Amino acid sequence: MRHLLADDDLSPAEQATVLDLAATLKAAPYDHKPLAGPVTVAMIFDKPTLRTQSSFAAGIAELGGHPMLVDGALAGIGVRESVSDVARVLGRQAGQVVWRTFAQASLEEMAEHAGVPVINALTDDFHPCQLLADLLTIREHKGALSGLRAVFLGDAACNMGNSWALAGATAGMHVVLSGPDGHQPTDAVVARARAVAATTGGSVELVTDPAEAVADADVVVTDTWISMGKEDEAAARLAVLEPYRLDQRLLDRARPDAVVLHCLPAYRGKEITGEVLDGPASVVWDEAENRRHVQKAVMTWLQEQRP
Ligand code: NVA
Repeated sequence: MRHLLADDDLSPAEQATVLDLAATLKAAPYDHKPLAGPVTVAMIFDKPTLRTQSSFAAGIAELGGHPMLVDGALAGIGVRESVSDVARVLGRQAGQVVWRTFAQASLEEMAEHAGVPVINALTDDFHPCQLLADLLTIREHKGALSGLRAVFLGDAACNMGNSWALAGATAGMHVVLSGPDGHQPTDAVVARARAVAATTGGSVELVTDPAEAVADADVVVTDTWISMGKEDEAAARLAVLEPYRLDQRLLDRARPDAVVLHCLPAYRGKEITGEVLDGPASVVWDEAENRRHVQKAVMTWLQEQRP
């Protein structure tokens, strides 16, 4: 049984296949119903959501499936019932499970016991659906991914920084992660991403100085400095991440045709200025829309891989 738990669950060829399928589904959203059955997809959100819930619900409906929202608090996952028991029950009701939660280990436990494909809708560690949307968006604007210099600015230790390292390397991109001490991916994530990069011609670099990092970038990415669950650390994070704000002065160091991505929600004046987020280089609304198309492709592809 295949799952999408982290970005490197897809090989380089599989990632390209999913992105191609996403582009096809985007061109004709209602012409394909490959989940035909129809398949019920269980969705559980243990953290806030706008894009992920709405794009999965709309995408599942477009595929002819049925989105089943399961209230994780009501179910008491890991409290009232163990993750493995919840997994076994949901796997008997639904054809796939989409879960946004905290611990990557819980998601892995769900996948181990569900008996159906499980999709990571964000954990503390990874956000692979967002990365596929980012890559599709970049491909639409740049034509190809391989060889592009993509710079992730700010809290590079968060799920988005980790996922950029893995998914960007899988796509053969030159990924630069730029954050202060304590806000860079772990050595384990960097090693995992570099192992992939060695097979694709990509690279993964850590550059502390944001101005040096952004120089000649084709793609500049940032994310909130205060990820969901890190609210207690807000003051300390704002203080140390200040030099990594993506403003026009910093963006001017990138290539003139560089595109700017942000998974949203964005905090104008914090990690990015309104001038940049709402400016001509920003492709964030395409990026938000593309969540639906890539997730449709992931669900379709996972369904095709079922034994
Ligand atoms: N790093 C952010 C991503 C939000 C989609 C968070 O985890 O809150």
